[in-house]
This record gives sequence, C-alpha cells and structure tokens, in this order.
Amino acid sequence: MSRLLIEHTEGLYGRVSIQGAKNSALPILTATLLCDDVCVIDNCPNLSDVDVTLDILSNLGAKVFKEKNSVTIDSSGAKNHRIAKNMMAKMRASILFLSAVTSKIGRAELCFPGGCRLGPRPIDWHIKALSKMGLNVRCNCNGKLFCKVEKNFNGAEINLPLPSVGATENIILAAVLAKGKTIINNAAKEPEICDLCDFLSKCGAKITGAGQNQIEIVGVDKLCGAKHRVISDRIVATTFLAATAMLSGDVKIENIVFDDMKVIIDILRRIGCTVNAKCDTVQIISNKKLKAPGEIITEPYPGFPTDAQALFMAISTISQGVSIFVENIFKNRYKHVDELLNLGANIKAFDKIAVVTGVRELHGNCLYAKDLRGAAALAIAAMAAKGSSILTGAEYLDRGYENFEINFKKLGAKIRRV
Ligand code: EPU
Repeated sequence: MSRLLIEHTEGLYGRVSIQGAKNSALPILTATLLCDDVCVIDNCPNLSDVDVTLDILSNLGAKVFKEKNSVTIDSSGAKNHRIAKNMMAKMRASILFLSAVTSKIGRAELCFPGGCRLGPRPIDWHIKALSKMGLNVRCNCNGKLFCKVEKNFNGAEINLPLPSVGATENIILAAVLAKGKTIINNAAKEPEICDLCDFLSKCGAKITGAGQNQIEIVGVDKLCGAKHRVISDRIVATTFLAATAMLSGDVKIENIVFDDMKVIIDILRRIGCTVNAKCDTVQIISNKKLKAPGEIITEPYPGFPTDAQALFMAISTISQGVSIFVENIFKNRYKHVDELLNLGANIKAFDKIAVVTGVRELHGNCLYAKDLRGAAALAIAAMAAKGSSILTGAEYLDRGYENFEINFKKLGAKIRRV
C-alpha cells in the first residue's frame, strides 16, 4: 500500500498540461493487436494500467517498445491466445482482449477482468453481442473464459440495453475484421469511443457514426499499421479544475478538448468559478466561496460523467447549501463517502442517492482510498482540510494519473508520498 502525506493547501497557482486519456489509450493499444504492421501510439500516458496492457501484448507475442509517451507495437508475430489470470485481474479494460485475441488468432483463453470495485460489473452484454456475431464464448466455474471463432464470424445488428463503453468497444474490435456489416444500436458516445474509431479508421477500418447513437462497421480483410495521438484525458482535466475550485487559486490547464468538457465547465461556472477558454487551454479562477452544485446526476456521455462524481462530491462538502447526487451508472460508487465523513463532511448516502450539506471546513484525518477516482477526490478534499492527512491506497492514483503528486506540488499543493 502506498501512502500520501497531504497538508492543508492555501490555493493552487500555475499551469498544468493534461496527459493522454487512459480510457482511450487502453482500447487503442488493445486494437493494435489487430493490425498487420507497426503502430505508433503517441501521447500515451505513463500509467500502471498502460503497463499491464503492454505486458499482455508482449505475452501474446507482440513486439512492444515504449519511450516516454510514445509506444511502438508490432503485432504481426502475435500467436499466443492465452492471457494469465494475474494480468486480467489488474484492470477492467483487459476484457477488450476477448474480441481482439479471438479475431486475431481464432481463439482466446482468458479470465474475468478486474478493475475498480464499483459494484457488480458483469460482461453479459459483451458476451451476448459476440455470440450473435458467431463467436462461441464459454466460461467455466473457475472464472475462465474461452472464446473461439465458429464457422462464420459475421457482422450482426446489436441492440445494447444501455450505452456501455466497454461493450461498444469490444463489439467494434470484433466487427472491424468480421465479415459484413455490424450495426450497434444504443452505442456509447464517449469521446474515447470516437478516438478508438479514429485510430481504427486510420488502419483501414470502415466505421461510421462514432459519437452517435448508432455505429455502423463494415468488416475489412485486414488492417494496416498507423500512427495515432491519444486524445487528452477529460477526467484528469476535471480533477485539476475541481481541485482549483475547491482550494481557490488561478490555474491554466493546457491540452484540453473543451467541447468534451462542457457539462463540467457549466457546473463550475454555476457554483461561482470563473472559467475562460482559449483554444486548448482553460483558465480557472476560484475565490473558494462556492455555491453548492445542486443536483448532480451521472449519465452516459454527454451527461455528467460518473468518473467525476466523487470529485464534485468533494467540492460540495464545503460549498454553501445542499447538493443531491444520483449515481446512475454504477451500483456502489460511494466508497469515498465514509472517508469524506472522516474529514468532517455532512453526507447522507442511501442506495444511489447522496445528500451533501456543505460545512464550513474539513479537518485532516487518516483516509483509505478504495478506487481510482475516489482516491483523487479524497486527495483534493485532504488538501482543502485544515491540518494534515494520510491517504492510504495512493497506488490507485497511479492507475489513472501520471505524476499525480508531482503535478499538484508544482501548483503549490503540500503533498508527498511517504
Ligand atoms: N454493464 C452490464 N453488463 C455489461 C456491461 C456493462 O450490466 O455487459 C453495466 C455496468 O455494470 C455498469 C454500466 O453497465 O453498471 C456501465 O458500464 P460500462 O460498460 O459503460 O463501463 P465500463 O466499460 O466497465 C468504462 C470506463 C470507466 C467508466 C465507465 C462509464 C474504461 C476502462 N472504464 O467502464 O472508467 O466509469 O466506462 O463511463 O474505459 C475509471 O476510469 O475510473 C473508470 C471506472
């Protein structure tokens, strides 16, 4: 367990440049397995989840070379169809190898994926969709998954019950090399889905409708290599915006895709922050006297992102008034609530609702992070709290944030790993 010592921080000032998006990089790196030539992926964040993905690719037989934020992958020689349980268990995105490996090699043997425990995270929609496309997917009682191509690996019309990000990605990864046309109805519209489709299109895939309700894919015989730059991480950007709002200060956040963040920026303005946007830079100025955000309801993109729920709950703890959170995406994504209570917050949470009444100040304490975004929210709440805090479980941050404490320290935060 890794720990952070966090002391009360009076304001953040300066500039920070936003890293590439984890949730884009992971599916794109997985997709390189489908390409017959070399791929170069730039702006790839240095994260433990990225390292796991690259380890999986190497174990499958791909040649992987990483230098700073650029990764070169040659999957032409990948022949292995098995992924070890310890690798699958490290993150949720490992499930995307189900269709990538089967499509490349004809069969796959892997296990159920791990990842942050946000309540039950089944993969039934992935399996149902791939089965409809002619893949035979079986699981045994030890949690092993076996998938192989039956006689026909065809496109199909898939109706997702909800716009699942992972299921949409798995179907896309299968459909690009399947025979014929695949239609995904009720597809996820997240910018990370569009980034995956942009990369695959550069490789020769035929995809239309990314970012819309219906995605159409016509399978091709082969995919070539391509060079691609991963989009910037809207949740990391949200983390710096939320921290500046909560602690006060004046920070310029560079390398942002403004249009992907409208819902976040609207709320920050509503609660009393000044937010100026110019090209790919957003400046946030906060004097700390914040109004409560009111109602925050998590929804699929373009709605309020579930990944930002904990961050805005942290802000609400010291904003004036009452905020109501409704977590619609995951069944158990309030693990940060007990820890915020330990800092002196006033929160009543039941099922998917949490009611937060702002208090005058928070006080430092020992905190335990239990998931990635919760860890980030606790870190910024601890910076706002009077006194000092120890945050245990800081390794969660390394899954999604490049140099978390170094970047915050540069802005004036009193934070260090102990
Ligand atoms: N669901 C099912 N069955 C399925 C698939 C999903 O019931 O077969 C349910 C899930 O249990 C959940 C809901 O559908 O309740 C939405 O899940 P989704 O599939 O959209 O999420 P995911 O693909 O598992 C990705 C991100 C998450 C992010 C969510 C929602 C990656 C690697 N993960 O997860 O990111 O919260 O979409 O936007 O892309 C994070 O970065 O910290 C993180 C958790």
